[in-house]
Amino acid sequence: MQRFLVAFFSLVSVLTAQGAPGDTHIAIETRKTALVIRVDKEQNPTIVHFGQRLSRPDEYAQIPGNGKRGEDYTGIYNSVYTPAGSRNLLEPAIQVTHADGNPSLDLRYVRHESKPAGEGVVLTTVYLKDPQYPFEVTLYYKAYQNEDVIEQWSTIRHTEKKNVTLHKYASANLYIPAQNYYLTHFHGDWANEMNPTEEPLTEGIKVLDSKLGTRADLFQPPSFLVALNQPAQEDQGEVMAGTLAWSGNYQIAFEVDPLHNLRMTAGINPYASAYTLAPGKEFVTPAFLFTYSNTGKGTASRSLHRWARKFRIPQGQGDRLTLLNNWEATFFDFNEEKLTGLFKDGKKLGVDLFLLDDGWFGNKYPRNNDKTALGDWQENVNKLPHGLGYLVKEAENAGIKFGIWLEPEMVSPKSELYEKHTDWVLKLPNRQEYYYRNQLVLDLTNPKVQDFVYGVVDNVMTKNPTIGYIKWDCNAVIYNAFSATNPNPSHLYVEYVQGLYKVVERLRAKYPTLPMMLCSGGGGRVDYGALRYFTEFWPSDNTDGLERVFIQWNYSYFYPSIATCNHVTDWGKQPIKFRTDVAMMGKMGYDIVVSKLDEKELQFSQEALKTYERIKNVIWQGDMFRLASPYTGDVASLMYVNEARDRAVWFTYLTKNRYKAGSVAPIRLQGLDPAKNYTVRELNVYPGARSAINNTTAYSGNYLMTVGFNPNVDARRTSVVLELTEAK
Ligand code: GLA
Repeated sequence: MQRFLVAFFSLVSVLTAQGAPGDTHIAIETRKTALVIRVDKEQNPTIVHFGQRLSRPDEYAQIPGNGKRGEDYTGIYNSVYTPAGSRNLLEPAIQVTHADGNPSLDLRYVRHESKPAGEGVVLTTVYLKDPQYPFEVTLYYKAYQNEDVIEQWSTIRHTEKKNVTLHKYASANLYIPAQNYYLTHFHGDWANEMNPTEEPLTEGIKVLDSKLGTRADLFQPPSFLVALNQPAQEDQGEVMAGTLAWSGNYQIAFEVDPLHNLRMTAGINPYASAYTLAPGKEFVTPAFLFTYSNTGKGTASRSLHRWARKFRIPQGQGDRLTLLNNWEATFFDFNEEKLTGLFKDGKKLGVDLFLLDDGWFGNKYPRNNDKTALGDWQENVNKLPHGLGYLVKEAENAGIKFGIWLEPEMVSPKSELYEKHTDWVLKLPNRQEYYYRNQLVLDLTNPKVQDFVYGVVDNVMTKNPTIGYIKWDCNAVIYNAFSATNPNPSHLYVEYVQGLYKVVERLRAKYPTLPMMLCSGGGGRVDYGALRYFTEFWPSDNTDGLERVFIQWNYSYFYPSIATCNHVTDWGKQPIKFRTDVAMMGKMGYDIVVSKLDEKELQFSQEALKTYERIKNVIWQGDMFRLASPYTGDVASLMYVNEARDRAVWFTYLTKNRYKAGSVAPIRLQGLDPAKNYTVRELNVYPGARSAINNTTAYSGNYLMTVGFNPNVDARRTSVVLELTEAK
């Protein structure tokens, strides 16, 4: 504690350091990074530095504003939170109409403070105010010292005589001068998530956004990389990784300004979301999370992973359950007998839990396909005459836990819920209803609906307290965006997400350790807003082993393996070994018909699960290094190294099938201790196959990281998993 306080007070002295006469400098620092705000004599707050932390903090005062590129006509191109109207000429962070109709805002510095917010976390708060109106914006910067991650959000409040309209209300506004900017963003669709595009940013504005309402990142997730001066490299160069912690419509704008500096605003999408703020009420924006690295995107990813495990994801440093899911094995076609057979199969395979997927509910309109019954969360009496309680017990008798699929935010037009509560459904008056996957979305802005959705999970859990896992699905986007009960139609998108968070917050309070998977027809909803409540996420319905190498590769820029659910299924043409090796690079599960596995496949899978149990902590808690990219060569290769650097697990896959494609040369490893010696042993060797790896030689970390090692991946060995263990 004493050490902590000393560190904190030395930091406070930095924060009050004065620069040029009359200027105040506010340094938001982590171990390696600094974001520096300058306040001039007129109390204008601007960003003068974002990047590597300087060793002499007094020199922040020397940094020229705006990268000294020329004339900033307004003096606020680099505003810490750019207000719209008056003299601003560029993309604002905030745009409001005051109670008297004045459409402009000015924001001046009032004061700031810094205080510890837990071990290794410092919260800096900067208070801003309009000089003419009782209108305040407070900026919050939580600096995670050891993880080099900054979490930024803002609050907005006023005491004007009447309501104020907020047209835009970003979470963060950053200013980054460099010679060139390379933005990597991701796009996709169902079963094709997270395809990267890297492009130079030129003058003007590039916008990443979503207007989908619920599964907001189906087409484009709110996560990106910006590399400075050169395209993003894995191990060198300056790069920023950013992601908005919000499960709804977002807008991230990158503006290269007239001085060729990069301005970025990130927050809730202003689209159809003008927000009426009453006097005395506070609007809290979601958080924008970012990290800066001058040793490439590898470091940036590892920082986010460490932060997420320690500070964000429930049980991020804890355990997870392997499971057998029945979705692809049965789809909607099952009964008690079939399921109890599957429990035994799961036990035989060696997983911890059986997950019952879609199709178990609905009576008036049984859920035998995806057109009915969402909302009617009672067991279907034909399929499950003895109810869920019986299944839970049968699973437990078979020696595994029981988990269940729910899609609580949704309603089928053919359901009793829809018939009883049409005003709980998002739909437009005087318009045809449009369906996405044959369903509609419930109005989570309505507190009664929030109670209902909470009750869907709570009832299942109260009746069956030993249920060990919830898969929370969300298969529709918001069509027909209108609430019958919300007095502010343009609050819908914002209050939907706030309503969702209220529900899961309540659930987490009651069930703090229940594992919950965040699923959205595959990877339509993955963000650090929802991952505050969910232990893991489903990256994609596409479980083809080869496709997954790419999909998981791209998620790995932002999310740690412990939260990434990978299931072995029958998708694709890869052998079961390949699919299993790929699934191991995260939280492993199965969605196959165990009884259809031949003897060798079953034996391989059983042994793989035992191996996984032994190595899972290296994969989940270790540092991840992407060694060879499937986008540039014949193979994808990545490894995980534990904190003590005495164990590592290394995965390599053949991703191209040209003649002689393979790992033709040694691949240089990373993250090992150069002074330690390691033996290399092949894991997941298929029954009857012989490993091509000599496991008797001990190689130094120095050798493995300088010369490298060839895992011998080729057309006969399309995936290779190697374990490195310190030789003592
Ligand atoms: C979504 C999920 C699948 C499965 C189905 C069930 O598509 O991503 O895993 O649960 O819904 O309808």
